[in-house]
Amino acid sequence: MAYKPMQDKIALVTGGGSGIGRAISIKLSDAGAEIIIFARNEERGRDVVAHIENGGGNACFYRTDLTREKDIEQSVKQVIAKYGRVDILVNNAAISGYMGPVVDTPMEEVYDIFKINLISVFYLSKLVLPRMIENGFGRIINISSIAYRKNTPNSATYNITKTGLNSLTKTLSKEVASFGITVNAIAPGLVLTERIIKSRLPGLAEKKGITPEEMMAELTAGTDTKKLTEEEDVAELVMFLAANVSGNITGEIVNISGGL
Ligand SMILES: NC(=O)c1ccc[n+]([C@@H]2O[C@H](COP(=O)([O-])OP(=O)(O)OC[C@H]3O[C@@H](n4cnc5c(N)ncnc54)[C@H](OP(=O)(O)O)[C@@H]3O)[C@@H](O)[C@H]2O)c1
Repeated sequence: MAYKPMQDKIALVTGGGSGIGRAISIKLSDAGAEIIIFARNEERGRDVVAHIENGGGNACFYRTDLTREKDIEQSVKQVIAKYGRVDILVNNAAISGYMGPVVDTPMEEVYDIFKINLISVFYLSKLVLPRMIENGFGRIINISSIAYRKNTPNSATYNITKTGLNSLTKTLSKEVASFGITVNAIAPGLVLTERIIKSRLPGLAEKKGITPEEMMAELTAGTDTKKLTEEEDVAELVMFLAANVSGNITGEIVNISGGL
C-alpha cells in the first residue's frame, strides 16, 4: 500500500470548494488526511467532497459564513464533536474586496473583508488551538498574498488584511511554538484560478486594450521565472508545511510568486 504522509490527520480548509482551496483539499486528501471544508457554497463544497470520496478519501462540508461568528462557533463545535480535534488548519478563504481608492470605499465593504480575511482566521485559530495544545501537535497555514509586499493602489483593504494576516502568523507562531504547533503563511503571486480567469483577467486586459491571452502572456513575462504560480504549486507548499518534517519551520511568510 502506498505511503500516505497525512494518514490520520484531520485537516480543516476554509474556502475549500473552489480555486486554491479545492487544490489544497484534494492534495491533502490524496496524502491520507480527512478533509473538512468550511465555505458557503454548498454545491461547490459537496462537489469537492464527492471528488475526494470517489478517490477513496474522507471529507465533510460544513456550510459556514465566515463573516458570522455564530456560524464559525457552530461549525467548529460540530467538528470537535465528530473528530475530536483539528490537526491542520488551512485558512484559505478570502475575498478581494472593493477595488478602488480609499476615499471611495464603502465602509460595509471594509468591515466585510476584515471579517473574512482576518477576523475569521483569528477566531478559527483561537477555537482549534486548545485541542492542538493538548495534543502537542498542530499546523496552521494561512494563505496570504504577495499583495503585502506590493501595496498596489486601489486594493487597500486586501493589502491591509494580508499584511495583518502575516503579523498574526508571526505573533501566534511565537505563542504556540513550544506546544509542537507551527504557524506559517504562504504568499502567492497571481494564480490563474477560475475566479481570476473569469473576472479579473478580462478586466485587466480591457484596461490595457489587449486580449486576456495577451494579458496573461504579459503577466507571465513580468515574473523572474517566466511562470505564474499554479493552484497545485500552492497545494504542494501546504503539504510541505503541514508535514512532520517541517516541524522546525514556523513564523515564516513563504512567497511563491516567481520572484516578484
Ligand atoms: N488567485 C490568486 O491570484 C491569489 C493570489 C494570491 C493570494 N490568493 C489567496 O488565495 C486564497 C484563495 O483564493 P482563490 O483565488 O482560490 O479564490 P476563490 O476561488 O474565490 O476562493 C475563495 C474561497 O473563499 C470562500 N469564501 C469567501 N467568502 C466567504 C465567507 N464569507 N465565508 C466562507 N467562505 C468564504 C469561497 O467559498 P464560498 O463562496 O463557497 O463561500 C471560496 O471558496 C485567498 O486567500 C486569496 O487571497 C489568491
